[in-house]
Amino acid sequence: MAMKAEEIQTLRQLMEYEASRNAPPDGFPNLPDLPGGRYTDARFYELEKRHIWRKSWLLASHIDEVPDPGCFRLWENAGQPVIIVHADSGEINAFYNTCSHRGAPVVTDQFGKRSRLVCRYHGWTYSHDGELMAVRDPQDFVDLDFSCRGLQKIRCERFGNLIFVNFDPAAPTLREWLGVIADEWEEFRFDQCRLAARHSFELNCNWKIAMEANTEVYHVKSIHPKTVSPILDDRRNVNTFYPNGHGRMIAPNRSGGVRPDRVNVPQIESVGEIARTCTQSYGIFPNWVSPLSHVALPPLLFWPRGIDKCLFETWTFAPDWGDGPKPDVWTVNDGESLNQVLLEDTEFGVWIQKSVESYGFKGVPLSYQEARIYHWNQFADRLIGIENIPEELRVAQVIGDEWIYPNDPRRDLLS
Ligand code: FES
Ligand SMILES: [Fe+2]
Repeated sequence: MAMKAEEIQTLRQLMEYEASRNAPPDGFPNLPDLPGGRYTDARFYELEKRHIWRKSWLLASHIDEVPDPGCFRLWENAGQPVIIVHADSGEINAFYNTCSHRGAPVVTDQFGKRSRLVCRYHGWTYSHDGELMAVRDPQDFVDLDFSCRGLQKIRCERFGNLIFVNFDPAAPTLREWLGVIADEWEEFRFDQCRLAARHSFELNCNWKIAMEANTEVYHVKSIHPKTVSPILDDRRNVNTFYPNGHGRMIAPNRSGGVRPDRVNVPQIESVGEIARTCTQSYGIFPNWVSPLSHVALPPLLFWPRGIDKCLFETWTFAPDWGDGPKPDVWTVNDGESLNQVLLEDTEFGVWIQKSVESYGFKGVPLSYQEARIYHWNQFADRLIGIENIPEELRVAQVIGDEWIYPNDPRRDLLS
């Protein structure tokens, strides 16, 4: 279902409000500095690992990577070895790639198709549902209980064709995690999108430095003067904070209309006016940032590879492209290198990393325009558990629920 006419009108009014204001909206909190150690302190990196990467829903795969029963994919981006398996029932399962015998990997290929999962070490054999089916020389084990020696299951849920994983048995459902965003995303038909491209790049900077370049438009005039700035009307950008640390930006094209390169190409017909004529970009906690439009659903994902390195993934989900070339939004030459806009962001990220490691870096004062970064950090602390964080590394919880969607004091200012 496309966005309602009333909501479109409200968003248009909010854009005009943002362009005309001379200060942040009344009552918007003063944002205390983000402690610099959140980018450089090994203790914080450890807390992220233990809590953020363990308790969040993470995009791991797309059904096109495991299209048939028996297909599997090895997925290690979150620092844990995971096998994603298409079961005979049609369910998609996720397991630790850790044999119940002596912990060897069950698969070592990135992709494959098997009628059974057979451990590489001594041949223990598992079904697609993770049950232990057979072991070699069973007469040599005393009382081996097959029923409790299956593969360890990991939470795995789908949003349309997308496959998400969560390592926390107590986590909310994916639907609850996304909340109202799951409804807003109906117009994008994630249940129909195909996987057009998926590439990854190693970057020499902390994963949050790379991600934050895609979470605000305050940098556009400096970093993208010739690429993004002529197209995107940054002063009309409208940010929204959602529960669970998610966020959204909507910035209209300067032309007010659809970009000319997005007219005669395959389209998701149900996508409404706002996503067609604006950059409508979502941040899904912790590491998904992406504009969603009528031509592509291209998430960028950021994964830590140490405190000062990250893996940067570029995905393109797209409507059926027929016989034409596969769309690949973020890269040139089928992933050989990043496109110009992303190069501008990522090359600068390496410079930022050097600077934040210096004695001169203490903390980060964020503007109202960059407040989605603060909102992300506030939620991060709640997920970690505020009392688990050394005091000097915490952020104060200053953005109150009155600013979290559907609440929004700016909406009350509109006539
Ligand atoms: S470790 Fe897997 S069969 Fe021995
Ligand atoms: Fe950028």
